[in-house]
Amino acid sequence: MLTPNLTVSDEGHLMFGGADCVTLAQQHGTPLYVMDENTIRENCRGFREVLQNEYAGNGLICFASKALSCKELYRIVHSEGLGTDVVSGGELYTALAAGMPASDIVMHGNSKTDAELQMAVDKGVGRIVADNLPELERLNRIAEEAGKTVRIMLRIKPGIDAHTHDFIQTGQIDSKFGFALETGEALEAVRAAGTYKNLELTGLHCHIGSQILETEPFAEAARVMLRFMDQIRAELGITLTELNLGGGPGIRYVERDDPKPFGDIVRAMLSAIRKTCSEISFPEPFMLFEPGRSIVGAAGLTLYTVMAKKQIPDIRSYVLIDGGMCDNPRYALYEAEYEAMIANRADQPRSESVTIGGKCCESGDLLGKNMPLQPAEPGDILAVIATGAYNYSMASNYNRNPRAEMVMVRDGKARTVIRRETYEDICRCDL
Ligand code: LLP
Repeated sequence: MLTPNLTVSDEGHLMFGGADCVTLAQQHGTPLYVMDENTIRENCRGFREVLQNEYAGNGLICFASKALSCKELYRIVHSEGLGTDVVSGGELYTALAAGMPASDIVMHGNSKTDAELQMAVDKGVGRIVADNLPELERLNRIAEEAGKTVRIMLRIKPGIDAHTHDFIQTGQIDSKFGFALETGEALEAVRAAGTYKNLELTGLHCHIGSQILETEPFAEAARVMLRFMDQIRAELGITLTELNLGGGPGIRYVERDDPKPFGDIVRAMLSAIRKTCSEISFPEPFMLFEPGRSIVGAAGLTLYTVMAKKQIPDIRSYVLIDGGMCDNPRYALYEAEYEAMIANRADQPRSESVTIGGKCCESGDLLGKNMPLQPAEPGDILAVIATGAYNYSMASNYNRNPRAEMVMVRDGKARTVIRRETYEDICRCDL
């Protein structure tokens, strides 16, 4: 089994977080997102423990809610002592509505609108990560009008190749995010930030990419950022006190994936920080991390009903399901790979190789090609594993398919945390 929270019952049913996936599908319908609360909580604790043990707790773990934003998730991560990273007014609104304290929120975005900045200022968001010079000017004006000084960080491109899929690589120079180090743009941005009376620059941020399987790119990012903080101290006489190293630890999607545990990654970053700080005599900064995928990815799976099979002789066989790119666009976008199982025959070998086709009117609407699977029949329940991150959050209403329900499982019991959309919901904004 891919993750320890997956088991098989005596009946041959797939069990997830102690709940029978076949029963869940019968009771709640499909497609159904299933999240395992204990795994989410264990992951939150795992991150906090490393920060506590290796760095005296001098920092804040902020769940990157672009991976999965809904009220219950904010409640869970807040109760585990995490803050959150939001990247839009919508995520900010949801986090606040769920009771996340504004001071524990980090606001991101490379194209924040005035309305989003205004909301962040009015609500007292703890840190705003500024991405570009016009944003600094707009934010300063909004803060001045509100009679406030806002704490900001600057998003830096540290120029690190994290060996990941091009589409989800965000730390290199050719990226739409942040200020480049190599060109001197970043130093200029620090200088510019200092000229605004209503902005208080506390530190720097970087995010080198996502689904990164190794520790070294993270350690290198930490060193590069600290050396830049040292340069700022030397050239501008400013000693920044905070460092946010973004998110990015990878998870196991398919059996051959072998990611380093996130604990090793955070330890590597913190040890690089401590070592570099002592080498350059720099005060150890308050650390922020923004993991998304590694907190919720393996804590989720999606259940579908098999609708039909289509054998194309000598070419491939399709298993067609009642969902697809509208609930999981990651194969269509990145050719992302997943493992799948027939939940009602999980004890049988995955003896076939199939292509899973979704229900959308689009040839590219697949969940994967040549995937090992138990022989499937119409009416079977298909489970796609490790879909907790970037599935619901990237879902759409393409073809006016209603968005699926999400249940949270805890010790075998399930509760609905996002109800299934109705056709009325879909038409709600139509005039
Ligand atoms: N912080 C910042 C500023 C980010 O841009 C991201 C992800 C994260 C934190 C969280 O990264 P994580 O720990 O989840 O890797 N939709 C893509 C992933 C895009 C990630 C974008 N930024 C996917 O489905 O793989």
